[in-house]
Amino acid sequence: MDLQAVAAIYAFAVKVLQIFAMLFAFGLVVLVLYVVYLYLSDVSQTKQAIRRNFPVLGRFRYQFEHLGEFFRQYFFALDREEMPFNRAQRSWVYRAAKNVDSTLAFGSTRPLNQPGDIVFLNHPFPTLAKDAVPPREVTVGVGVARRPYTTRSIFNISGMSFGALSVPAVRALSRGAAKAGIWLNTGEGGLSPHHLEGGCDIVFQIGTAKYGVRDENGLLSDEKLKAVAAHEQVKMFELKLSQGAKPGKGGILPGVKVTPEIAHVRGIPVGMDSISPNGHPEFRHVDGLLDMIQRIREVTGKPTGFKCVIGNSDWLHDLCEAIQKRGPESAPDFINIDSADGGSGAAPQSLMDYMGLPLNRSLPLVVDLLAQYGLRDRIKIICAGKLLTPSMVAWALAMGADFVNCGRGFMFALGCIQAMQCNKNTCPTGVTTHNPDLQQGLDPVDKAERVYNYAHNMEHEVGIIAHSCGVPEPRMLRRAHVEVINERGTPVPLSELVPDVKPKSVIASDRGAS
Ligand SMILES: Cc1cc2nc3c(=O)[nH]c(=O)nc-3n(C[C@H](O)[C@H](O)[C@H](O)COP(=O)(O)O)c2cc1C
Ligand code: SF4
Repeated sequence: MDLQAVAAIYAFAVKVLQIFAMLFAFGLVVLVLYVVYLYLSDVSQTKQAIRRNFPVLGRFRYQFEHLGEFFRQYFFALDREEMPFNRAQRSWVYRAAKNVDSTLAFGSTRPLNQPGDIVFLNHPFPTLAKDAVPPREVTVGVGVARRPYTTRSIFNISGMSFGALSVPAVRALSRGAAKAGIWLNTGEGGLSPHHLEGGCDIVFQIGTAKYGVRDENGLLSDEKLKAVAAHEQVKMFELKLSQGAKPGKGGILPGVKVTPEIAHVRGIPVGMDSISPNGHPEFRHVDGLLDMIQRIREVTGKPTGFKCVIGNSDWLHDLCEAIQKRGPESAPDFINIDSADGGSGAAPQSLMDYMGLPLNRSLPLVVDLLAQYGLRDRIKIICAGKLLTPSMVAWALAMGADFVNCGRGFMFALGCIQAMQCNKNTCPTGVTTHNPDLQQGLDPVDKAERVYNYAHNMEHEVGIIAHSCGVPEPRMLRRAHVEVINERGTPVPLSELVPDVKPKSVIASDRGAS
């Protein structure tokens, strides 16, 4: 290369460096001006004390607070520390969903002295593999509904509406549920083709706004109800009275999540907040509730029950007495009890944190009340509320539930990382967003397999607990198989804390004595 060429390259390089230097200097000046602007706007504003006292620097607090939601679970939280679900619980679901080895080494990280925790009582002669059997079949609405529903499944997908959940999430749930032989509850957002796509059993939920089955006045339409019931896949109908995360508040779907398709399925305008009433305008007492259940069962021919979170329980006595007067055929075919610490796409914090009873109180309360009134066989019990690991599902069955529903466990199976942005349309994993760019991360075919694995491994491991307790299948677990750790850190029999109740004649005046 001649000297002239070298000089030209050198001159070019110097020019490029000069340009970069100028750009850098310019950028620096802009940055300094921007920081000065931030400083002046921080010290002159009066809304946020942190920004006023610590201009510019105070702004990082909000960024870190936001980023903390994502990162604390990786760097700072211990295995059993986080809420609503700790790493140990999430990891079990992730491993089950991926169908990878779920065994652990060295020893449990679970302290066995925390008040309220449970332990199971193993039998000296556990059930041998040759004696183990699948969960027995349960029929809902037998002798009452024209089309009773029979299933073996113990662990099903809890109601999460299309709208709260994305299209690929619903598709994956539908396909996974079909493969696992479990039901998918639609939640209150109506029935979409995505629910039907996989061919799974479906429980159609009727919320207070009657999405998908509402007439022009927002009341229940028999015509639309018949159309939904005409789908062979729809096996049962569930009237939603309340939800654990927000008792006394209706569904909330922000307008940003009301796409044209969701609006069509729900029967509401596009882009407007979708807020359902906090109660059913059609009835205000237990007789009205029984009439409504009777009407839905008559129109659809399918088992019909209701979902609620229990708070004040006097009305349950009224309900059982009303059923006794009318006859057992008037009863709901099932009651689905949601725990006060249940999840939601969006709920006010006061209701989420303070309203309603947790499942460890409400489940035995309802089971025993139905037993007292001789209605325990007639009315099946479903329950939900943080029952996403085998031990908790086994606990619920031992306590007296016929079926367990799970919402957030299946969200984890779909890839949810507990970023807790479900109400913002910014879900980073595509589970609860309608932003197509974010949804593309959720492949319905791949995630359907995870939904199936999770449900399948759950049933398998609840079976392991049952066999260790010496019974051949999970539905044979009883309170006598469980002990609860008391405030002194010592396990005491669950059957002593909440003894089984035998049927007896109960009238209103006996309540105080019973
Ligand atoms: C995103 C999301 C949406 C939900 N939508 C509904 C709904 O439409 N209807 C309903 O009855 N419950 C709804 N739930 C509550 C769940 O069905 C379930 O009762 C509750 O989360 C407790 O179960 P889990 O602890 O297994 O999640 C929703 C929960 C979540 C997390
Ligand atoms: S990852 Fe998505 S679905 Fe899971 S909590 Fe966060 S926003 Fe909700």
